[in-house]
Amino acid sequence: MSKPFRAVKGTRDLLPKDTVQWRRLEAVIHDTMRAWSYGEIRTPVFESTELFARSVGEESDIVSKQMYTLSDQSDNSLTLRPELTAPTMRAYIQHDMARDGALTKLYYMDTLFRQERPQAGRMRQFSQFGAEAIGSPHPEQDAEVISLICAILDQLGVDNLEVVINSIGSAESRKRYRSELVSFLTPLKGQVSETSQRRLETNPLRILDTSDEKEQALLADAPDILEFLNEDDLGHFEELQKSLTQLGVDYRRDKSLVRGLDYYTRTTFEITSPDVGAQSALCGGGRYDDLIAQLGGKPTPAVGFAAGIERILMAAAEQKESSSGGVSVYVVTASDGARAAAAKLADDLRRTGITASFDTLRRSVKAQLREANRLSSSHAVFLGDDELASGSAEVKELDSGRQSMVAIEGIIPHFTTG
Ligand code: HAM
Repeated sequence: MSKPFRAVKGTRDLLPKDTVQWRRLEAVIHDTMRAWSYGEIRTPVFESTELFARSVGEESDIVSKQMYTLSDQSDNSLTLRPELTAPTMRAYIQHDMARDGALTKLYYMDTLFRQERPQAGRMRQFSQFGAEAIGSPHPEQDAEVISLICAILDQLGVDNLEVVINSIGSAESRKRYRSELVSFLTPLKGQVSETSQRRLETNPLRILDTSDEKEQALLADAPDILEFLNEDDLGHFEELQKSLTQLGVDYRRDKSLVRGLDYYTRTTFEITSPDVGAQSALCGGGRYDDLIAQLGGKPTPAVGFAAGIERILMAAAEQKESSSGGVSVYVVTASDGARAAAAKLADDLRRTGITASFDTLRRSVKAQLREANRLSSSHAVFLGDDELASGSAEVKELDSGRQSMVAIEGIIPHFTTG
Protein backbone atom coordinates (compact mmCIF):
# COMPACT_ATOMS: atom_id res chain seq x y z
CA MET A 1 0.00 0.00 0.00
CA SER A 2 1.35 3.47 -0.80
CA LYS A 3 2.13 5.83 2.06
CA PRO A 4 -0.67 8.37 2.70
CA PHE A 5 0.05 11.97 1.72
CA ARG A 6 0.76 14.53 4.41
CA ALA A 7 0.54 18.34 4.33
CA VAL A 8 3.82 19.89 3.15
CA LYS A 9 6.31 20.84 5.89
CA GLY A 10 5.50 24.24 7.37
CA THR A 11 1.84 24.13 6.28
CA ARG A 12 -1.17 22.93 8.23
CA ASP A 13 -4.80 21.99 7.91
CA LEU A 14 -7.43 23.84 9.88
CA LEU A 15 -10.01 21.33 11.06
CA PRO A 16 -13.57 22.24 12.12
CA LYS A 17 -12.46 22.59 15.78
CA ASP A 18 -9.85 25.16 14.64
CA THR A 19 -12.00 27.07 12.18
CA VAL A 20 -14.52 27.93 14.93
CA GLN A 21 -11.74 29.82 16.70
CA TRP A 22 -10.51 31.41 13.42
CA ARG A 23 -13.96 32.68 12.52
CA ARG A 24 -14.34 34.30 15.90
CA LEU A 25 -11.02 36.06 15.44
CA GLU A 26 -11.91 37.10 11.90
CA ALA A 27 -15.23 38.56 13.12
CA VAL A 28 -13.47 40.65 15.80
CA ILE A 29 -10.99 41.94 13.22
CA HIS A 30 -13.63 42.88 10.63
CA ASP A 31 -15.80 44.60 13.29
CA THR A 32 -12.91 46.54 14.83
CA MET A 33 -11.52 47.62 11.47
CA ARG A 34 -14.98 48.89 10.51
CA ALA A 35 -15.21 50.88 13.76
CA TRP A 36 -11.84 52.48 13.00
CA SER A 37 -12.86 53.22 9.37
CA TYR A 38 -10.40 50.90 7.63
CA GLY A 39 -11.64 49.38 4.34
CA GLU A 40 -10.69 45.83 3.36
CA ILE A 41 -8.32 45.15 0.46
CA ARG A 42 -7.54 41.76 -1.11
CA THR A 43 -4.61 41.47 -3.47
CA PRO A 44 -3.39 38.51 -5.60
CA VAL A 45 -1.43 35.66 -4.05
CA PHE A 46 1.52 36.29 -6.37
CA GLU A 47 3.18 39.48 -7.53
CA SER A 48 6.19 40.28 -9.65
CA THR A 49 9.37 39.41 -7.73
CA GLU A 50 10.75 42.88 -8.34
CA LEU A 51 8.01 44.42 -6.15
CA PHE A 52 9.40 42.72 -3.04
CA ALA A 53 13.05 43.15 -3.99
CA ARG A 54 12.51 46.89 -4.33
CA SER A 55 10.46 47.39 -1.16
CA VAL A 56 11.43 44.80 1.45
CA GLY A 57 15.02 44.97 0.17
CA GLU A 58 17.45 42.62 -1.60
CA GLU A 59 19.52 42.29 1.57
CA SER A 60 16.63 41.38 3.88
CA ASP A 61 16.24 37.76 5.03
CA ILE A 62 12.82 37.67 3.39
CA VAL A 63 14.06 38.53 -0.10
CA SER A 64 17.50 36.93 0.09
CA LYS A 65 16.40 33.52 1.35
CA GLN A 66 12.72 33.10 2.13
CA MET A 67 10.73 33.78 -1.02
CA TYR A 68 8.88 31.18 -3.07
CA THR A 69 9.79 32.39 -6.55
CA LEU A 70 8.82 30.80 -9.85
CA SER A 71 8.97 31.62 -13.54
CA ASP A 72 5.83 31.52 -15.64
CA GLN A 73 5.65 30.42 -19.30
CA SER A 74 6.77 33.87 -20.47
CA ASP A 75 9.74 33.81 -18.11
CA ASN A 76 8.30 36.42 -15.79
CA SER A 77 9.68 36.06 -12.29
CA LEU A 78 6.75 35.77 -9.86
CA THR A 79 6.79 35.43 -6.08
CA LEU A 80 4.17 34.14 -3.65
CA ARG A 81 3.62 37.15 -1.39
CA PRO A 82 5.86 37.03 1.70
CA GLU A 83 4.20 40.17 3.12
CA LEU A 84 1.31 42.47 2.32
CA THR A 85 2.50 46.06 2.68
CA ALA A 86 4.19 46.18 -0.73
CA PRO A 87 1.22 44.59 -2.59
CA THR A 88 -1.15 46.99 -0.81
CA MET A 89 0.95 49.99 -1.86
CA ARG A 90 1.19 48.62 -5.40
CA ALA A 91 -2.61 48.48 -5.49
CA TYR A 92 -2.92 51.95 -3.89
CA ILE A 93 -0.79 53.41 -6.67
CA GLN A 94 -2.31 51.32 -9.49
CA HIS A 95 -5.89 52.29 -8.60
CA ASP A 96 -4.99 55.90 -7.87
CA MET A 97 -6.64 55.60 -4.48
CA ALA A 98 -5.21 58.97 -3.45
CA ARG A 99 -7.95 60.46 -5.63
CA ASP A 100 -10.57 59.27 -3.12
CA GLY A 101 -9.21 61.39 -0.27
CA ALA A 102 -6.10 62.65 1.49
CA LEU A 103 -6.17 59.77 3.98
CA THR A 104 -6.68 56.17 2.88
CA LYS A 105 -7.08 53.52 5.54
CA LEU A 106 -6.84 49.91 4.36
CA TYR A 107 -6.76 46.55 6.10
CA TYR A 108 -6.15 42.99 4.99
CA MET A 109 -6.37 39.45 6.27
CA ASP A 110 -4.69 36.90 4.04
CA THR A 111 -2.27 34.04 3.57
CA LEU A 112 1.48 34.55 3.10
CA PHE A 113 4.45 32.37 2.24
CA ARG A 114 7.99 32.41 3.60
CA GLN A 115 10.51 29.62 3.29
CA GLU A 116 11.64 29.65 6.92
CA ARG A 117 12.72 26.77 9.13
CA PRO A 118 9.38 25.62 10.58
CA GLN A 119 8.91 25.56 14.35
CA ALA A 120 6.10 26.42 16.78
CA GLY A 121 4.71 29.78 15.62
CA ARG A 122 6.83 29.80 12.46
CA MET A 123 5.19 28.43 9.34
CA ARG A 124 5.92 28.43 5.63
CA GLN A 125 2.29 29.25 4.86
CA PHE A 126 0.80 31.52 7.51
CA SER A 127 -1.82 34.22 7.87
CA GLN A 128 -1.62 37.86 8.79
CA PHE A 129 -4.06 40.65 9.29
CA GLY A 130 -2.81 44.19 9.11
CA ALA A 131 -3.71 47.82 8.62
CA GLU A 132 -2.07 50.57 6.60
CA ALA A 133 -2.90 54.27 7.07
CA ILE A 134 -1.74 56.19 4.00
CA GLY A 135 -1.46 59.97 3.80
CA SER A 136 -0.65 61.31 7.27
CA PRO A 137 2.94 62.14 8.26
CA HIS A 138 1.94 62.92 11.85
CA PRO A 139 2.73 60.90 15.00
CA GLU A 140 -0.91 60.67 16.09
CA GLN A 141 -1.43 58.41 13.08
CA ASP A 142 1.35 56.08 14.28
CA ALA A 143 -0.26 56.07 17.73
CA GLU A 144 -3.70 55.33 16.26
CA VAL A 145 -2.35 52.31 14.41
CA ILE A 146 -0.61 50.97 17.54
CA SER A 147 -3.73 51.54 19.60
CA LEU A 148 -5.82 49.72 16.95
CA ILE A 149 -3.79 46.51 17.16
CA CYS A 150 -3.81 46.74 20.97
CA ALA A 151 -7.62 47.05 20.89
CA ILE A 152 -7.93 43.96 18.69
CA LEU A 153 -5.58 41.91 20.89
CA ASP A 154 -7.49 43.05 23.95
CA GLN A 155 -10.81 41.90 22.49
CA LEU A 156 -9.27 38.55 21.59
CA GLY A 157 -8.28 38.03 25.21
CA VAL A 158 -4.54 38.24 24.50
CA ASP A 159 -2.99 39.78 27.56
CA ASN A 160 0.55 39.63 28.88
CA LEU A 161 1.73 41.80 26.02
CA GLU A 162 4.63 44.13 25.58
CA VAL A 163 4.56 47.04 23.12
CA VAL A 164 8.11 47.88 22.08
CA ILE A 165 8.84 51.02 20.06
CA ASN A 166 11.80 52.76 18.51
CA SER A 167 12.62 55.34 15.87
CA ILE A 168 15.14 54.66 13.13
CA GLY A 169 14.80 58.22 11.83
CA SER A 170 14.69 59.47 8.29
CA ALA A 171 17.20 58.29 5.66
CA GLU A 172 19.38 61.31 6.38
CA SER A 173 19.59 60.66 10.17
CA ARG A 174 20.17 57.01 9.56
CA LYS A 175 23.15 57.69 7.32
CA ARG A 176 24.95 59.51 10.12
CA TYR A 177 24.12 56.80 12.62
CA ARG A 178 25.22 54.09 10.23
CA SER A 179 28.79 55.40 9.97
CA GLU A 180 29.00 55.75 13.78
CA LEU A 181 27.75 52.20 14.23
CA VAL A 182 30.27 50.86 11.72
CA SER A 183 33.09 52.60 13.65
CA PHE A 184 31.85 50.97 16.85
CA LEU A 185 31.48 47.49 15.32
CA THR A 186 34.59 47.30 13.16
CA PRO A 187 36.99 46.56 16.06
CA LEU A 188 34.55 43.82 17.21
CA LYS A 189 34.34 42.19 13.77
CA GLY A 190 36.29 39.09 14.84
CA GLN A 191 33.76 38.39 17.62
CA VAL A 192 30.55 38.41 15.56
CA SER A 193 28.93 35.81 13.32
CA GLU A 194 29.57 35.54 9.60
CA THR A 195 26.11 36.96 8.90
CA SER A 196 26.83 40.00 11.06
CA GLN A 197 30.25 40.42 9.43
CA ARG A 198 28.55 40.50 6.04
CA ARG A 199 25.90 42.90 7.30
CA LEU A 200 28.61 45.23 8.53
CA GLU A 201 29.26 45.88 4.84
CA THR A 202 25.70 45.70 3.51
CA ASN A 203 23.26 46.79 6.23
CA PRO A 204 24.91 47.40 9.61
CA LEU A 205 21.67 48.42 11.35
CA ARG A 206 20.35 44.91 10.91
CA ILE A 207 23.09 43.62 13.21
CA LEU A 208 21.21 45.32 16.04
CA ASP A 209 18.35 42.84 15.94
CA THR A 210 20.54 39.77 16.17
CA SER A 211 19.11 36.93 18.25
CA ASP A 212 22.61 35.77 19.28
CA GLU A 213 23.03 36.52 23.01
CA LYS A 214 26.78 37.00 22.73
CA GLU A 215 26.30 39.62 20.03
CA GLN A 216 23.51 41.24 22.02
CA ALA A 217 25.93 41.64 24.93
CA LEU A 218 28.52 43.25 22.62
CA LEU A 219 25.86 45.61 21.32
CA ALA A 220 24.79 46.81 24.76
CA ASP A 221 27.32 49.66 24.47
CA ALA A 222 26.56 50.48 20.83
CA PRO A 223 25.70 54.12 20.13
CA ASP A 224 21.99 54.95 20.49
CA ILE A 225 20.27 56.02 17.27
CA LEU A 226 18.24 58.65 19.12
CA GLU A 227 21.40 60.73 19.49
CA PHE A 228 21.70 60.91 15.71
CA LEU A 229 18.11 61.81 14.84
CA ASN A 230 17.52 65.25 13.39
CA GLU A 231 15.19 67.62 15.20
CA ASP A 232 12.10 66.67 13.18
CA ASP A 233 12.65 62.94 13.63
CA LEU A 234 13.18 63.40 17.35
CA GLY A 235 10.10 65.62 17.66
CA HIS A 236 8.05 62.96 15.86
CA PHE A 237 9.24 60.26 18.25
CA GLU A 238 8.56 62.39 21.33
CA GLU A 239 5.06 63.25 20.16
CA LEU A 240 4.37 59.59 19.38
CA GLN A 241 5.24 58.69 22.95
CA LYS A 242 2.96 61.45 24.30
CA SER A 243 0.08 60.25 22.09
CA LEU A 244 0.54 56.66 23.24
CA THR A 245 0.47 57.72 26.87
CA GLN A 246 -2.69 59.74 26.22
CA LEU A 247 -4.32 56.70 24.63
CA GLY A 248 -3.35 54.58 27.64
CA VAL A 249 -0.93 52.35 25.70
CA ASP A 250 1.97 51.14 27.85
CA TYR A 251 5.19 50.78 25.89
CA ARG A 252 8.90 50.28 26.28
CA ARG A 253 11.56 51.76 24.04
CA ASP A 254 14.19 49.37 22.69
CA LYS A 255 17.11 51.05 20.94
CA SER A 256 17.85 47.87 18.97
CA LEU A 257 14.38 47.50 17.40
CA VAL A 258 15.22 48.12 13.73
CA ARG A 259 12.95 45.49 12.03
CA GLY A 260 14.03 43.25 9.20
CA LEU A 261 12.35 45.00 6.27
CA ASP A 262 14.08 47.86 4.49
CA TYR A 263 11.20 50.24 3.94
CA TYR A 264 10.87 51.69 7.43
CA THR A 265 11.49 55.32 8.32
CA ARG A 266 11.12 56.84 11.80
CA THR A 267 8.74 54.73 13.92
CA THR A 268 9.25 50.98 14.29
CA PHE A 269 7.27 48.83 16.71
CA GLU A 270 6.55 45.28 17.72
CA ILE A 271 4.16 43.62 20.11
CA THR A 272 5.50 40.55 21.82
CA SER A 273 4.04 37.93 24.11
CA PRO A 274 6.03 35.51 26.27
CA ASP A 275 3.18 32.98 25.78
CA VAL A 276 4.27 31.92 22.27
CA GLY A 277 7.81 30.75 23.02
CA ALA A 278 10.77 31.66 20.87
CA GLN A 279 8.67 33.31 18.13
CA SER A 280 7.38 35.96 20.50
CA ALA A 281 6.52 38.71 17.98
CA LEU A 282 2.76 38.80 17.50
CA CYS A 283 2.84 41.97 15.46
CA GLY A 284 5.34 44.21 13.72
CA GLY A 285 5.01 47.51 11.99
CA GLY A 286 6.16 51.02 11.50
CA ARG A 287 6.22 54.09 9.33
CA TYR A 288 7.39 53.89 5.71
CA ASP A 289 7.29 57.40 4.30
CA ASP A 290 9.50 56.69 1.25
CA LEU A 291 8.00 53.42 0.02
CA ILE A 292 5.19 54.71 -2.19
CA ALA A 293 7.62 56.98 -4.08
CA GLN A 294 10.09 54.08 -4.38
CA LEU A 295 7.34 52.03 -6.04
CA GLY A 296 6.60 54.78 -8.56
CA GLY A 297 3.81 56.66 -6.77
CA LYS A 298 3.62 60.27 -5.62
CA PRO A 299 5.61 60.69 -2.38
CA THR A 300 3.08 59.82 0.35
CA PRO A 301 3.73 59.09 4.03
CA ALA A 302 2.24 55.94 5.54
CA VAL A 303 2.30 53.77 8.64
CA GLY A 304 0.93 50.32 9.43
CA PHE A 305 1.28 46.97 11.09
CA ALA A 306 0.77 43.28 10.41
CA ALA A 307 0.06 40.59 12.98
CA GLY A 308 0.45 36.82 12.70
CA ILE A 309 -2.84 35.01 13.21
CA GLU A 310 -1.34 31.62 14.16
CA ARG A 311 0.78 33.24 16.86
CA ILE A 312 -2.14 35.27 18.20
CA LEU A 313 -4.24 32.14 18.49
CA MET A 314 -1.41 30.49 20.42
CA ALA A 315 -1.35 33.43 22.82
CA ALA A 316 -5.12 33.94 23.06
CA ALA A 317 -6.76 32.73 26.20
CA GLU A 318 -8.59 29.47 25.50
CA GLN A 319 -12.05 30.77 24.71
CA LYS A 320 -14.49 28.01 24.02
CA GLU A 321 -17.33 28.80 21.69
CA SER A 322 -20.35 28.57 23.93
CA SER A 323 -23.06 26.33 22.59
CA SER A 324 -25.58 27.49 25.18
CA GLY A 325 -28.45 29.64 24.03
CA GLY A 326 -28.52 28.35 20.46
CA VAL A 327 -31.10 25.76 19.42
CA SER A 328 -29.85 22.73 17.52
CA VAL A 329 -32.21 19.93 16.72
CA TYR A 330 -31.49 16.27 16.07
CA VAL A 331 -34.35 14.76 14.07
CA VAL A 332 -34.38 11.10 15.15
CA THR A 333 -35.67 8.64 12.55
CA ALA A 334 -37.58 6.14 14.64
CA SER A 335 -38.76 3.88 11.78
CA ASP A 336 -37.76 3.21 8.18
CA GLY A 337 -41.11 4.57 6.99
CA ALA A 338 -40.43 7.96 8.62
CA ARG A 339 -37.01 8.50 6.99
CA ALA A 340 -38.26 10.77 4.20
CA ALA A 341 -40.38 12.83 6.60
CA ALA A 342 -37.41 13.18 9.00
CA ALA A 343 -35.15 14.31 6.15
CA LYS A 344 -37.76 16.87 5.08
CA LEU A 345 -38.23 18.20 8.63
CA ALA A 346 -34.44 18.61 9.09
CA ASP A 347 -34.27 20.34 5.71
CA ASP A 348 -37.13 22.72 6.59
CA LEU A 349 -35.57 23.56 9.95
CA ARG A 350 -32.19 24.31 8.32
CA ARG A 351 -33.86 26.62 5.80
CA THR A 352 -35.16 28.74 8.68
CA GLY A 353 -31.56 28.98 9.96
CA ILE A 354 -31.88 26.47 12.79
CA THR A 355 -29.02 23.95 13.09
CA ALA A 356 -30.58 20.54 12.44
CA SER A 357 -29.20 17.03 11.93
CA PHE A 358 -30.62 13.94 10.33
CA ASP A 359 -29.00 10.50 10.27
CA THR A 360 -27.88 9.37 6.82
CA LEU A 361 -26.20 6.26 8.22
CA ARG A 362 -29.57 4.58 8.99
CA ARG A 363 -28.47 3.87 12.57
CA SER A 364 -30.58 2.69 15.51
CA VAL A 365 -32.49 5.21 17.64
CA LYS A 366 -29.99 4.62 20.44
CA ALA A 367 -27.02 5.33 18.15
CA GLN A 368 -28.75 8.46 16.82
CA LEU A 369 -29.19 9.75 20.38
CA ARG A 370 -25.51 9.10 21.07
CA GLU A 371 -24.70 11.17 17.99
CA ALA A 372 -27.07 13.95 19.15
CA ASN A 373 -25.15 13.99 22.40
CA ARG A 374 -21.78 14.12 20.61
CA LEU A 375 -23.00 17.08 18.56
CA SER A 376 -24.29 18.81 21.74
CA SER A 377 -27.75 19.08 20.18
CA SER A 378 -30.17 20.94 22.41
CA HIS A 379 -33.31 19.04 21.30
CA ALA A 380 -34.33 15.74 19.72
CA VAL A 381 -37.50 15.29 17.71
CA PHE A 382 -38.67 11.69 17.28
CA LEU A 383 -40.39 10.79 14.02
CA GLY A 384 -41.66 7.24 13.50
CA ASP A 385 -44.69 5.54 11.95
CA ASP A 386 -46.86 6.28 15.02
CA GLU A 387 -45.99 9.96 14.97
CA LEU A 388 -46.75 10.21 11.26
CA ALA A 389 -50.09 8.49 11.81
CA SER A 390 -51.08 10.71 14.76
CA GLY A 391 -49.65 13.92 13.26
CA SER A 392 -47.68 14.87 16.35
CA ALA A 393 -44.16 14.11 17.52
CA GLU A 394 -42.27 14.05 20.77
CA VAL A 395 -39.85 16.96 21.27
CA LYS A 396 -37.26 16.37 23.99
CA GLU A 397 -34.95 18.91 25.61
CA LEU A 398 -31.79 16.87 25.87
CA ASP A 399 -30.30 18.68 28.87
CA SER A 400 -33.31 18.55 31.17
CA GLY A 401 -35.01 15.50 29.65
CA ARG A 402 -38.26 17.51 29.52
CA GLN A 403 -40.62 16.23 26.81
CA SER A 404 -43.69 17.54 25.05
CA MET A 405 -45.89 16.43 22.17
CA VAL A 406 -46.01 18.94 19.33
CA ALA A 407 -48.10 18.81 16.13
CA ILE A 408 -45.72 18.03 13.25
CA GLU A 409 -46.78 21.17 11.34
CA GLY A 410 -46.15 23.15 14.51
CA ILE A 411 -42.54 22.00 15.01
CA ILE A 412 -40.90 24.81 13.05
CA PRO A 413 -42.92 27.58 14.80
CA HIS A 414 -42.17 25.75 18.10
CA PHE A 415 -38.45 26.43 17.57
CA THR A 416 -38.61 29.72 15.70
CA THR A 417 -41.10 31.53 17.95
CA GLY A 418 -39.22 30.69 21.10
P1 HAM B 1 6.76 41.09 9.81
O1 HAM B 1 7.37 41.47 11.11
O2 HAM B 1 7.62 40.43 8.81
O3 HAM B 1 6.14 42.43 9.23
O4 HAM B 1 5.51 40.16 10.08
C1 HAM B 1 4.47 40.55 10.95
C2 HAM B 1 4.01 39.38 11.81
O5 HAM B 1 3.71 38.24 10.99
C3 HAM B 1 5.06 38.84 12.78
O6 HAM B 1 5.11 39.63 13.95
C4 HAM B 1 4.53 37.45 13.07
O7 HAM B 1 3.50 37.48 14.04
C5 HAM B 1 3.93 37.05 11.73
N1 HAM B 1 4.86 36.16 11.00
C6 HAM B 1 5.92 36.51 10.26
N2 HAM B 1 6.54 35.42 9.73
C7 HAM B 1 5.83 34.35 10.16
C8 HAM B 1 5.96 32.93 9.96
N3 HAM B 1 6.89 32.42 9.19
N4 HAM B 1 5.04 32.13 10.56
C9 HAM B 1 4.05 32.65 11.32
N5 HAM B 1 3.89 33.97 11.53
C10 HAM B 1 4.76 34.82 10.97
C11 HAM B 1 5.52 42.54 8.02
O8 HAM B 1 5.13 41.59 7.38
C12 HAM B 1 5.23 43.98 7.62
N6 HAM B 1 4.55 43.96 6.31
C13 HAM B 1 4.39 44.67 8.67
C14 HAM B 1 3.99 46.07 8.32
C15 HAM B 1 2.79 46.47 7.86
N7 HAM B 1 4.75 47.14 8.40
C16 HAM B 1 4.07 48.20 8.01
N8 HAM B 1 2.86 47.79 7.66
